[in-house]
Amino acid sequence: MSVLEKITSEDAIALEDKYGAHNYHPLPVVLSKGAGVYVWDVEGKKYYDFLSAYSAVNQGHCHPKIVGAMMEQAQTLTLTSRAFYNDKLGAFEKYATETFGFDKLLPMNTGAEAVETALKISRKWGYEKKRIPENEAEIIVCENNFHGRTTTIISFSNDPIARRNFGPYTKGFLKIAYDNLQALEEALKDNPNVTGFLVEPIQGEAGVYVPSDGYLKKAKELCERYNVLFIADEVQTGIARTGRLLATCGNCSCSDKHCSGTPEVKPDILILGKALSGGAYPVSAVLANNDIMEVIRPGNHGSTFGGNPVAASVAMAALSVIKEERLAENAQELGELFREKLNEFIPNCDLVTAVRGKGLLNAILINDTEESSTAWDICMALKENGLLAKPTHGNIIRFAPPLVMTKEQLLDCVGIIIRTLSEFKK
Ligand SMILES: Cc1ncc(COP(=O)(O)O)c(C=O)c1O
Repeated sequence: MSVLEKITSEDAIALEDKYGAHNYHPLPVVLSKGAGVYVWDVEGKKYYDFLSAYSAVNQGHCHPKIVGAMMEQAQTLTLTSRAFYNDKLGAFEKYATETFGFDKLLPMNTGAEAVETALKISRKWGYEKKRIPENEAEIIVCENNFHGRTTTIISFSNDPIARRNFGPYTKGFLKIAYDNLQALEEALKDNPNVTGFLVEPIQGEAGVYVPSDGYLKKAKELCERYNVLFIADEVQTGIARTGRLLATCGNCSCSDKHCSGTPEVKPDILILGKALSGGAYPVSAVLANNDIMEVIRPGNHGSTFGGNPVAASVAMAALSVIKEERLAENAQELGELFREKLNEFIPNCDLVTAVRGKGLLNAILINDTEESSTAWDICMALKENGLLAKPTHGNIIRFAPPLVMTKEQLLDCVGIIIRTLSEFKK
């Protein structure tokens, strides 16, 4: 087939099926174009994107400012490696550290790499600053976490599909219940070898579990009491998704919706990815203050592509779009409207038991078992009606549209969701 020939959905799926590893189970839709909140399939059908590439496309598909920055930089200088300096990385590091209120940033590419980076920094800090005996450091993680797919990260996952037959697993992790301060305190006390507590401010992949009010703040206080680093994985929740620039801003009482300088919960280590580039390019980062980041010295950690000038230019543009277009504020307002409208509908619908979330990271719970295909079948029906979403776990459907959505578009989407659920037959 010539590259100029248009491919059909059927042929594109057949190609992936034959030549690609089967490490995903996509909804059968083949996308070839995106703009703002919309995507189009190869046959030209238009959809609302209600997944945003797992919250990477917060700024909307192909945002002109982000794409413009990427194209300009791609025509100038793409990669130097960190063997040399480039003229964009420092500017990005300054912009991002000022935006999020940290001294230093370590650039990587994917979310999982940034999590790995944070784990390494935390361990090294534990040995060098907390004087934990060699190879004894432990990091507390939460049950049902999702932090990526590397060998170390799946070592502390409790998803059997992610883990089975990938052992032996990396040691040094203690798993406790999420949203449980007593469990955290028990794991911290009498254990001087704990160096970090790694937590998602909202558990996205697990099904959009929002912890109790005050959980993050109290967890941070416990970490301070036991001299343990509070490591926030904001790969999915960060960059305005939950109605604040960061979800660890939580219930921060300041009136600035873009606030991050003095959030209620300031992590010791902040992990960002996904929407840090608006979905245009793989960019992730770990931020921390000097007393922590200084444990990293030449040769300790790195990546050929991390901090390349395209990534740096794209990320600066992506962050500036969040601020200029007030996307945190929009996510906050539209999220409230979304939950309000669904909460009005749910009592009249046997199929859905609840809606939950924060900002524009939401999920509905389907009244069926985890093993049932109902949530998948609903997503197929939503697709027919022009809206793309995907189940997280069996019976939970996540709704996370781009944050550039307007109120009219959101109400249109609520209409599609309600109509689909009302007409749905098992
Ligand atoms: C909270 C969290 N951490 C880490 C990751 C891994 O990011 P990536 O897929 O870019 O490696 C994800 C991906 O969904 C995530 O949601």
